[in-house]
Amino acid sequence: MKFTLRTMTEQDLRAVAEVEAGVFTDWYRIYRREPEPLSERTVEALRYAISLDPEGNLVAVADDGAMVGFILARTWGRVGWFGTFGVPTQFQGLGIGTALVNRAVGYLESKADVIGLETMPESGANIGLYTKLGFAVTYPTHILELPLIREAERFKNARVEDADTWEGLGSSGRRRALREMREISGSILSGLDYSGEVEAIHSHGFGRTLLSRGAGDRLDGFAILRSTSIRRENATGRGYIHALAVRPGADGPSVLDDLLRQVWAACVSLGLARVAAGLSGRYQSALPLFLARGFKVMRAGIRMVRLPVSEKVFQMSDAIHLSRWAG
Ligand SMILES: CC(C)(COP(=O)(O)OP(=O)(O)OC[C@H]1O[C@@H](n2cnc3c(N)ncnc32)[C@H](O)[C@@H]1OP(=O)(O)O)[C@@H](O)C(=O)NCCC(=O)NCCS
Repeated sequence: MKFTLRTMTEQDLRAVAEVEAGVFTDWYRIYRREPEPLSERTVEALRYAISLDPEGNLVAVADDGAMVGFILARTWGRVGWFGTFGVPTQFQGLGIGTALVNRAVGYLESKADVIGLETMPESGANIGLYTKLGFAVTYPTHILELPLIREAERFKNARVEDADTWEGLGSSGRRRALREMREISGSILSGLDYSGEVEAIHSHGFGRTLLSRGAGDRLDGFAILRSTSIRRENATGRGYIHALAVRPGADGPSVLDDLLRQVWAACVSLGLARVAAGLSGRYQSALPLFLARGFKVMRAGIRMVRLPVSEKVFQMSDAIHLSRWAG
């Protein structure tokens, strides 16, 4: 079958939402025996997702104009990753996925030193595909969830009015906070910079960034919280910590307590029931801190990274750092 690849545009977003829900409904039925169709991503959520790296997001289009695949890619400074990604079930196995990944990787290579992805452990086909395309498995991701109401006692003094948000700062305060966030994330993984994510999540109205300051008003940690659902129906009532990082050398447990109090209050004030996050096995020494604060491990994801890459990506770190993909 003939197809061409091109950059995703605003006009594609409805079709991307439809194709994505169709592909993953099939996937969940086969691998997780979930009979209900997956709710579509909203156009607003896709617009937010592609805003970070407009040229990194692609669609595959057949000769008759039908959309036969899509891929989203983004960079966090010198760290890039792709996903979500799909080809309609009836068009799989024809080389469309390979072409989409190769093109997205070409884009990411021009901007990033580390290129990664996360996939489902059930899918041997995906792990095989990505291995053929030059990726290797690194650490699993622990997918965590904090049940908010069950942990109400632990967070009883947390009040949403006390939150220290990036959104609440003036323009010079915001610039300074972004610089400090870059300092923190860059000391965890060289070149990692969440600035674009902080700005995008705010400007698209999907959430806010919570800050924790220590002695001398130094930023010691931050949490980028997405509180608006990316799907049309959000039956899960779930918020999502896109990224959380604590300055190496700071008092980790107390900075984490401060950030989690703010996350808890923000989510509860919006009527959410739980908050999810991803902790790479690279940072697994921090896992007991999350478990001690009421988080549960729900399942695991597989992280892969494109070779060659700095050995550091494969070395354990004692940093406190959450994110679904970042080394
Ligand atoms: C993943 C997906 C996008 C791949 O798209 P696709 O168009 O089917 O992929 P391609 O046809 O380009 O390539 C499939 C490759 O995987 C290989 N493959 C498939 N099953 C495999 C297995 N179990 N072990 C090793 N390799 C395998 C095939 O041999 C093929 O490689 P080849 O072209 O060298 O023979 C598509 O299957 C999909 O949408 N899946 C459901 C959603 C999903 O999982 N998305 C990705 C989430 S991370």
